[in-house]
Amino acid sequence: MVWFRDALLGLLMLSGISHASPTGRRVPKHATIVDRRDISGNYTFIIAGGGIAGLTLADRLTEDPTARDVITEQSANQVVAFWTVSVLVIEAGPIDPGLDGILVPGAYAPYYYFWPNQFTVPQTGLNNRTIFAICAQVLGGGSAINAMVYIRGKAEDYNGWGLLGNPGWSWNNLLPYFMKSENFTRPNPAFAASANITWNEAVRGHTGPLQNSYASYIFPAAANWWNAARAVGFPAILDPNDGTKPGVFAMPSVVDARNGAYTRSYAKINHYDRVSASRPNYHILSSHTVSKIRFSGTKAIGVDFIPTAGGNASTAYAGLEVILAAGALHTPQILQLSGVGPRSLLQGLGIPVVADLPGVGQNLQDQPTLSVPYTFTNNKEPNSNTFANNATFNAEQRALYDAHQPSAYSIVASLSTNIAVLSLQDATPSYHGIARSAANANPADSLPAGTDPTVLAGYVAQRALILSQFESPNIGVGTVSWGTGDAAQVYHLRPLSRGSVNIASTDPLATPLIDYRTGTDPVDWRVYLAIFRKNRELFATPAMQALGPVEGAPFGLNVTTDEQIVAVMKDLVNPSNAHQCCTAAMLPKALGGVVSPQQKVYGVQGLRVADISFWPMEVSGAPTATMYAAGERLADVIKQEYSLI
Ligand SMILES: Cc1cc2nc3c(=O)[nH]c(=O)nc-3n(C[C@H](O)[C@H](O)[C@H](O)COP(=O)(O)OP(=O)(O)OC[C@H]3O[C@@H](n4cnc5c(N)ncnc54)[C@H](O)[C@@H]3O)c2cc1C
Ligand SMILES: *[C@@H]1O[C@H](CO)[C@@H](O)[C@H](O)[C@H]1NC(C)=O
Ligand SMILES: *[C@@H]1O[C@H](CO)[C@@H](O)[C@H](O)[C@H]1NC(C)=O
Ligand SMILES: *[C@@H]1O[C@H](CO)[C@@H](O)[C@H](O)[C@H]1NC(C)=O
Ligand SMILES: *[C@@H]1O[C@H](CO)[C@@H](O)[C@H](O)[C@H]1NC(C)=O
Ligand SMILES: *[C@@H]1O[C@H](CO)[C@@H](O)[C@H](O)[C@H]1NC(C)=O
Ligand SMILES: *[C@@H]1O[C@H](CO)[C@@H](O)[C@H](O)[C@H]1NC(C)=O
Ligand SMILES: *[C@@H]1O[C@H](CO)[C@@H](O)[C@H](O)[C@H]1NC(C)=O
Repeated sequence: MVWFRDALLGLLMLSGISHASPTGRRVPKHATIVDRRDISGNYTFIIAGGGIAGLTLADRLTEDPTARDVITEQSANQVVAFWTVSVLVIEAGPIDPGLDGILVPGAYAPYYYFWPNQFTVPQTGLNNRTIFAICAQVLGGGSAINAMVYIRGKAEDYNGWGLLGNPGWSWNNLLPYFMKSENFTRPNPAFAASANITWNEAVRGHTGPLQNSYASYIFPAAANWWNAARAVGFPAILDPNDGTKPGVFAMPSVVDARNGAYTRSYAKINHYDRVSASRPNYHILSSHTVSKIRFSGTKAIGVDFIPTAGGNASTAYAGLEVILAAGALHTPQILQLSGVGPRSLLQGLGIPVVADLPGVGQNLQDQPTLSVPYTFTNNKEPNSNTFANNATFNAEQRALYDAHQPSAYSIVASLSTNIAVLSLQDATPSYHGIARSAANANPADSLPAGTDPTVLAGYVAQRALILSQFESPNIGVGTVSWGTGDAAQVYHLRPLSRGSVNIASTDPLATPLIDYRTGTDPVDWRVYLAIFRKNRELFATPAMQALGPVEGAPFGLNVTTDEQIVAVMKDLVNPSNAHQCCTAAMLPKALGGVVSPQQKVYGVQGLRVADISFWPMEVSGAPTATMYAAGERLADVIKQEYSLI
């Protein structure tokens, strides 16, 4: 049926009780957490990184509708299962045993499983601050520890990726995968009406693995913020996930609300636990770090890996492909360690060059964040502070949650239940002037001196696209929100500044040089300032003034001029919302690209990038939704290429 099936036939053969491969390798009956001593054989695909993309792919590549138990003629008692594909996922982090802080939205602190000891280089655009660079190190990746926000980008985001030289990429192409990836549980109708929760049924999936819904509770002051957002001109939109214009909406959350329990639905649960009982061909090795891709010439044939705690390397081989899914800070690290990257960087470290790809590790983007402190003379009770201030309320809400009743514990702690995405014209009437002044600047001035000409060419193309997006009402540049507690959140979605991730050592466990370069392009401050001022305008409306808000130091109403506001922002802005992306960008090679529209790494064979590193540019949403869809899409691309479907 498939051309290479015979070659792989019997890769995994199962007998009734013991499971022996033709090479004598014993394989388990179910998808398994393997010990590295068991990894003596070969896999069809090896995936480096068990996050959203890695586990989505592993699930889809191991689902084989033609796999079945077969009674062989040779030995009547032997049951032999023919699996076309076997997959090994190697994940640097541990496996969460089911901590409250992971599964219960309202218990989302303290935080767990941050990649340890990882700091940026001094950020020259942010008063030389050195900042802890957050990303996940746990099975499930970011989906295990993120804030569960589910916001797709807009149609113009993905259409823009297509315009940058990626045929086959558009909103229309990705929409079926958004829908395939999710199972949207409709909220209780009466609650939805009272909380202004609306959705567009035409774009929501109801059969996918990712469980998706809304918190079952709102704090009363959320209505004040909603009305304030409407008063400053943000439209109330039907569904932030239908690709159309930005506006104000209730916060969709990656929560499993099927039985009223409201637990986190994350990649380990929805793309591993869900299928593990039926997948002898799906293996996971946790707490091990992929240190290097093995090449035969320029064909990737396997990976070296070491215990994340330190130790000697082992090797696993991949018959068809090695797939990198280690996230935007670590996929470029693996590539560079393996000799795929900027020639001068590799040669300086004595690494033999397998493929000279100047774009590897460049084009780093994120979505900077800012908390604006507020106190209130007249806030409504209860609010998100009441958890900490009132033990009775806290215990009462926890008991309701445990009884599967509507509860404030269904809200991700620290988060709001409504939010607005703003286009630049939603933020300021000066949007055209900002776009024009940006057009008059020399793009080369935004990148470090000595940037490779192809990387610069890619940036010139991205920048032209972003400036056109500045004039569009249908794409976002920022968000504002307020969780009813002591800060408003003001986020910047669409920076012009570009950073980098470059190794400084051949030690695979050493932190690479992470330089977000946030705020190095002056236009970013004009845009961020506009979003900041819009937030102030929102707090000045009667709906918010009824709560008696007082903007706190180091902001405050004495901080009025653009210069004063930006000066405080440089001290407070976090360069990252842990939305790092774009460091192995899908762009033509002449534009500094690292992967093709099929996500194949240029200049080598048998190697793809599945994680968020492949994005060419940030989207005007949050990454999770797009990464689940992109994982589904890539699985189909790979299956089609090898006739697996
Ligand atoms: C604290 C936090 C909050 C966030 N909040 C939100 C949110 O509310 N909404 C939203 O949409 N997005 C959010 N994000 C971002 C989102 O989770 C990520 O963008 C997304 O998980 C990226 O998916 P990925 O598949 O590219 O990589 P990841 O999910 O990050 O997975 C990468 C995996 O690779 C592993 N890895 C790395 N290097 C190696 C190696 N050398 N060998 C083996 N394994 C390796 C890592 O341990 C990790 O598990 C948040 C992220 C964090 C960390
Ligand atoms: C695995 O693949 C390698 C390299 O292709 C080969 O040398 C080795 O014999 C294979 N091992 C098994 C157990 O099939
Ligand atoms: C940041 O560091 C650079 C290089 O050391 C220096 O030139 C610059 O003046 C510093 N900026 C601030 C605001 O301290
Ligand atoms: C999807 O969710 C509904 C409840 O909203 C549930 O009845 C159904 O079983 C779920 N389907 C899947 C595939 O998870
Ligand atoms: C919902 O919207 C209506 C109409 O704009 C408004 O009156 C109400 O206060 C809002 N409620 C919430 C919880 O946002
Ligand atoms: C690592 O390899 C060396 C050399 O083969 C050996 O002496 C050492 O015991 C190994 N260490 C571990 C932790 O296995
Ligand atoms: C604390 O919460 C309880 C339960 O919701 C409520 O009855 C009580 O009034 C609250 N106390 C204060 C001081 O707000
Ligand atoms: C504004 O007032 C605060 C609090 O008094 C103070 O810390 C800050 O320096 C003032 N800022 C300016 C720009 O005057």
